[in-house]
Amino acid sequence: MIIKSLEQLNSFSKKIADYIEKKDCIFLTGEIGVGKTTLTRYLINHLQKKEGSKTTEVLSPTFNLLYEYDLKKFKIMHYDLYRLKNKKELDTLGIFQENENAIKIIEWPSLIKIPISEKIEIHLEYVKNKNERKLKLLGTGKWKILNEL
Ligand SMILES: Nc1ncnc2c1ncn2[C@@H]1O[C@H](COP(=O)(O)OP(=O)(O)OP(=O)(O)O)[C@@H](O)[C@H]1O
Ligand SMILES: [Mg+2]
Repeated sequence: MIIKSLEQLNSFSKKIADYIEKKDCIFLTGEIGVGKTTLTRYLINHLQKKEGSKTTEVLSPTFNLLYEYDLKKFKIMHYDLYRLKNKKELDTLGIFQENENAIKIIEWPSLIKIPISEKIEIHLEYVKNKNERKLKLLGTGKWKILNEL
């Protein structure tokens, strides 16, 4: 799918926000600066609106590895694993220990090898035009429906 602008990325993220539930997991892949955090920001802001929470700033967890957002019915855990070096470091984070009430959005998820039953991977790619991106979607479980988008 081609996304022509930030506005279109925002509309796309709303579709995901309408469909997502607690326990879901989103992997975001693609080169540095391609738009993973921007997509996450739109998505979190849509979810905050939908849940009647105040929209907040959504910053990149580049150095903190994780930022959490507490909404009324669930929380959102936004990870950026770019700085992780190995599986041991990944394990200390215990990402999948808390499954019940958390939506997980993970940038740079390549160290995660365990299968996840309900997951969508969104891969972003640069194209010629500066504000355009190509998106590839790979869903498992209920997210398979998005593969047709
Ligand atoms: N259509 C678009 N989709 C996504 N980002 C866009 C688009 N057009 C322009 N941009 C700009 O590209 C930049 C994307 O930066 P962002 O921090 O979201 O990337 P990232 O993939 O999270 O980077 P990193 O790998 O460092 O975490 C932003 O400045 C954003 O405004
Ligand atoms: Mg980022």
